[in-house]
Amino acid sequence: MKIAFAKSQVPAEGAVVVAVLEGKVLAPSAQNIDGQMGGGLTRAIDASRFEGKKDQTLTIAAPAGLQASRVLLVGLGKAEAVDAAAAQAFGGTVVAQLAGAGDSLATVLVDEIAGAGVSAAEFAANAALGAQLRGYRFDKYLTREKKEDKPSLKKVALALDGHSAAKDAFASLAKVADGVLFARDVVSEPANVINPETLAEQARKLAEVGVDVEVLGEKQMRKLGMGALLGVGQGSAKESQLVIMRWMGAKNEDAAPVAFVGKGVTFDSGGISIKPGHGMEEMKWDMAGAAAVIGVMRALAGRQAAVNAVGVVGLVENMPSGTAQRPGDVVTSMSGQTIEVINTDAEGRLVLADALWYTNDRFKPCAIVDLATLTGAIVISLGNEYAGLFASDDSLAERIAAAGKAVGEPVWRLPMGDAYDKQLKSEIADMKNVGGREGGSITAAQFLKRFVGDVPWAHVDIAGMAWTKKDLPVCPKGATGFGTRLLDRLVADYFEEK
Ligand code: BES
Ligand code: MN
Ligand code: ZN
Repeated sequence: MKIAFAKSQVPAEGAVVVAVLEGKVLAPSAQNIDGQMGGGLTRAIDASRFEGKKDQTLTIAAPAGLQASRVLLVGLGKAEAVDAAAAQAFGGTVVAQLAGAGDSLATVLVDEIAGAGVSAAEFAANAALGAQLRGYRFDKYLTREKKEDKPSLKKVALALDGHSAAKDAFASLAKVADGVLFARDVVSEPANVINPETLAEQARKLAEVGVDVEVLGEKQMRKLGMGALLGVGQGSAKESQLVIMRWMGAKNEDAAPVAFVGKGVTFDSGGISIKPGHGMEEMKWDMAGAAAVIGVMRALAGRQAAVNAVGVVGLVENMPSGTAQRPGDVVTSMSGQTIEVINTDAEGRLVLADALWYTNDRFKPCAIVDLATLTGAIVISLGNEYAGLFASDDSLAERIAAAGKAVGEPVWRLPMGDAYDKQLKSEIADMKNVGGREGGSITAAQFLKRFVGDVPWAHVDIAGMAWTKKDLPVCPKGATGFGTRLLDRLVADYFEEK
């Protein structure tokens, strides 16, 4: 979706969009349109049930007195409730309403709203972000789609007084959107296209925006003693990879970095503990944690964030084969701790064990946050509304929760503790990789905690959030890119030099 900012003017072509507050309160530009329509706007509203409540819409096609093809009214609700998130949702609604309406251009007339939490410029910039995110489409393999079935809308223009301030505000949001769309693209790709090697290649492209990218192959990981990660990938024809991305944007070069670690299982068949066939195709998105980590590194570099940040992603394919690891195998992790692999389908924690240990050992970060589609149990606990948050540090947990809330990627904290940790006891090794059905997401987090030492650490289980089966305000159904915006905001609010 192309985004443009223009001076406040009723357009001579395409669709024109105006926001309406609850109680049918028309802003100056809506009044202007109503005037040009000879009162037709007011009459159309009065003839409908449209009241300007949040997400209500009303379209007036071929409006008399205007050159525009149609007028779209979008309800905003009460002025006090208009904030950045509401502006993003508004932008998303504009795209959802007009995507297939026939116009290639939509011009949104933005006014200053008295009593709102955002200025007109901030509203416009956030509406543009919402439009961009909602306008995402992964259609490269739809080779026979008819033209009339493809979206007509190509461009959203935001028209307002002082549009250059809006354009400036959008500049850094657009870089974050780049990161989100990158993440959605690689999550959407099937597993015959995105495997550990090709995903590492995608990550290498971040060098173009100034990220330092290093890729370790199996030989190097074996030397480091990463038996837990390597065991997961040993049944695959593709080579496992560890990608290390560094963005050193802080003025103080020596400032300890904040580290992000991602689970990148490019396909999770379950391995020898193979999954049932129904729904197995969904496991192409078992690398969504890694995608979000790569996405946020791209966003941070893109907007030249004043922070030292490290992103580490463990990339493996979990396959059954003659070389695959077996239930009962004992592997030695880089930390030296041994693990009895009871279930080869509990592979994400094995990958993260070595990726987390490596990250802490090499970079001595000030904090580590990992993102992973780790457990089906978190989907049972929280559904598709919140990601699960686990942390060894209360203040880090609070910051993550606040950042998630601010960007509409909410997380809910779950408890941890020694009683849960005991469920991981093994007779033959230092631990086993599963702790039984009870509290399955928590015992998975307890497992990870054994590989992070004393550094403040948090784990976000995004299994319920990485993919959506229904359209959301700023995300069409499919890959969400969940986590990219959360981590970007976490950096912006708590880790960036001011
Ligand atoms: N990738 C899955 C978790 C998952 C399930 C993500 C559904 C998204 C949707 C993970 O590797 C897995 O298989 N976990 C097992 C753990 C079990 C064997 C202890 C699970 O959740 O069933
Ligand atoms: Mn699994
Ligand atoms: Zn998995």
